[in-house]
Amino acid sequence: MLFNKQLDAAEIALSVSYSLNILGSIQWMIRQSVEVESQMTAVERVLEYCHLEQESPSHTNYRPNANWPSCGEINFKNVSFRYSNDSPFVLKNLTLTIYSGEKIGIVGRTGAGKSSFIQTLFRMAEPTGQIYIDNVDIFQLGLYDLRRRISIIPQDPVLFTGTVRYNLDPFGDYSDIEIWKALEEVQLKSFVEKNMSNSLKSLVSESGSNLSVGQKQLICLARAILKKSKILVIDEATANVDNATDEFIQNSIREKFKHCTVLTIAHRLRTVVDNDRIMVMNAGELVEFDSPYSLLENPTSYLTDLVRQTGAAEFDHLRGLAKLAYLRTSVDQQTKQYVDNKNIQSEHFDNSNGEETEQLLKSDHLVV
Ligand SMILES: Nc1ncnc2c1ncn2[C@@H]1O[C@H](COP(=O)(O)OP(=O)(O)OP(=O)(O)O)[C@@H](O)[C@H]1O
Ligand SMILES: [Mg+2]
Repeated sequence: MLFNKQLDAAEIALSVSYSLNILGSIQWMIRQSVEVESQMTAVERVLEYCHLEQESPSHTNYRPNANWPSCGEINFKNVSFRYSNDSPFVLKNLTLTIYSGEKIGIVGRTGAGKSSFIQTLFRMAEPTGQIYIDNVDIFQLGLYDLRRRISIIPQDPVLFTGTVRYNLDPFGDYSDIEIWKALEEVQLKSFVEKNMSNSLKSLVSESGSNLSVGQKQLICLARAILKKSKILVIDEATANVDNATDEFIQNSIREKFKHCTVLTIAHRLRTVVDNDRIMVMNAGELVEFDSPYSLLENPTSYLTDLVRQTGAAEFDHLRGLAKLAYLRTSVDQQTKQYVDNKNIQSEHFDNSNGEETEQLLKSDHLVV
């Protein structure tokens, strides 16, 4: 059309100007359609999340006592666990009892089901069978009540975007004094005071990227100390930290959680070799559950096999540590028994003369 017709300069200028305008509009249109498409992805994702299978309710009519669990005894009866209805069972028929205040090490090869065992306590997926904590059936509880009463120090520490205070006490349950005390106990007080300009109100960036892995784990430890739960679960908490921090974390746990039930998934066998008992997992089954000393005395046990793989010198060293821990526990138990007997006998002979009681007690021996 342009070439068949004689056009004057004004017409040509007008058509060029219009075509440039159209070009801009087309570019704008394409940009907008791309923008709509990417925004709609978010809508699609939200719709997808809306159709996800829901967890069990966070609250039920059954509420545990305010101080539950007060002893920290855990009972598993025929517990099996899988992550979804169409996947195989990763824990098979576990029946065991963990007594109040016991320190339990959980070991086994990769994929044996150690982390899955911990997942069952938090009901991350619903296991079959029965789990009791201090005689309370945990399947009766809402997830809010269950998960708030057990402390965990995960291998990959979880921190939120927010202040230091929010990360330690997300529900605002504790005073600043308590929070400073917990920070002091994990040796982070001076770091927060000196290196973070707004002290407890200083910001922790996304996933705690302005803190080192060790510091993040120490924050998780401080969180657990604040919560004062009777049950503490540690999933390979020491895998990413240097030896000094590792030792510090281990000592803090030993001291602060002396009277608590502590379940430790061991990254280093040395961490758990002085525990009261060791759970050895293999392909989702509990194959051994006894004191490390007894298991290491048995040359054909799974634990002996695992420890042997660390080398002959390490094997001897770990066996020595296990023996030492075993002897220490026996002495503690016998001392306790002796003291208990003495108290009972003192009560019994309360009205008799002291000589008779002394004579009876002389017949007791502390066998070490
Ligand atoms: N989120 C998940 N969804 C589906 N299957 C899973 C999931 N997590 C673990 N599994 C499967 O459960 C089994 C046990 O895994 P688990 O993580 O309990 O092993 P683990 O003993 O903790 O191993 P590791 O020492 O490597 O941490 C594995 O076969 C694994 O494939
Ligand atoms: Mg694991």
